[in-house]
Amino acid sequence: MKKSKILSIALLAILFTACSNNNQTTETMKSESNEPVMGLGNKIEGVNFTGDAWLNTLSAESNYDCQVYNVTFAPTVRNSWHSHAVGQILLCTEGVGYYQERGKPAQRLEVGAVVNIPANVEHWHGAAPDSQFTHIGITPKVSENSAEWLEPVSDEEYMKAVGVSALPVKTQSVKRNIGSVLALYPKPVTVIGTINEGKANFMTMTHTGIIGHDRIMLSMRKSHHSNKAVRDIRKLSVNMVDEAMLPRADYAGTVSGANEDKSKLFEYTIGDEGMPIINDSPLTMECVVEDIYETEGFDNFICKITNTYANDDILDVDGKIDYNSFKPVLFEMPSYQYLRTGEVIGKCRTLSKN
Ligand SMILES: Cc1cc2nc3c(=O)[nH]c(=O)nc-3n(C[C@H](O)[C@H](O)[C@H](O)COP(=O)(O)O)c2cc1C
Repeated sequence: MKKSKILSIALLAILFTACSNNNQTTETMKSESNEPVMGLGNKIEGVNFTGDAWLNTLSAESNYDCQVYNVTFAPTVRNSWHSHAVGQILLCTEGVGYYQERGKPAQRLEVGAVVNIPANVEHWHGAAPDSQFTHIGITPKVSENSAEWLEPVSDEEYMKAVGVSALPVKTQSVKRNIGSVLALYPKPVTVIGTINEGKANFMTMTHTGIIGHDRIMLSMRKSHHSNKAVRDIRKLSVNMVDEAMLPRADYAGTVSGANEDKSKLFEYTIGDEGMPIINDSPLTMECVVEDIYETEGFDNFICKITNTYANDDILDVDGKIDYNSFKPVLFEMPSYQYLRTGEVIGKCRTLSKN
């Protein structure tokens, strides 16, 4: 058995080096894992862990001679066999993990478990195969509490200890968790037409949703000029945008009707519901508002489509909208860019049969 003796001070020095990484690195680490309540901290480098583990130092006052830190293990990850000259205390705060002393069965650790690791007892701790695991570690008497790191806990030892016959093939998702990010882009660009006190106004909108086959949802920031008109008249038009009208649509999304008269930005006719139907838009829906679902800062208008107006040249011989002819422009939020729609790449519900 190969043994290497490392003072706990040296261990902590390595760990502090990891803590000095810049904020961007910290954010990157955080995004790779679920954030524990006491913070994920920085990824632990080195050979004493079998995979991804993170350290967040919580208290290291030198006059206390005691260090407190949060350690998070990705599923299946455990540290090597090791011992402490004085001992160590583990307070389990999240997930499920295991602790095993050499020659004894492993103990399953759940939230609230406390482990008092005796002096000079060889042991390991880490996550269950299917759970991220976090414990607070307390190192008392730091100045005399050297750690002795030994060999890694092999997969066979680990599987026997935790009672499984195989380990998950992938211990980590191939995708990075980037947090709660709206990922329903790109979305078609539309221009919402309203009539406010007899005057038309136009605003650009992309946060639209489909409800059933005859209703849509429009998410409009409460501060927009358009909202008052929609709330008052409870009707609006949704004008689809192609590349030719995009520059004016972009403008309609840049200035507010509260500050500037946008009524002449587009030529329009009045639809059967009395809403402005933009002549240059190849495809327009006229809608009545059925309900308003309010969220923080937004009116989300639930609308029933009452009329749809289409240019002849975007309809096929059966009168259906032909997306070989009509090319709506798309928008994506992360970098505020517009995209073209492309070619037809297949017939729906036939691809799996090829
Ligand atoms: C591409 C693009 C998409 C937009 N999508 C939305 C949207 O989905 N919801 C929203 O409330 N505002 C959206 N806006 C912002 C409004 O169009 C913009 O604030 C506009 O000036 C409001 O006009 P108004 O005050 O005359 O109603 C978007 C703007 C652009 C340029």
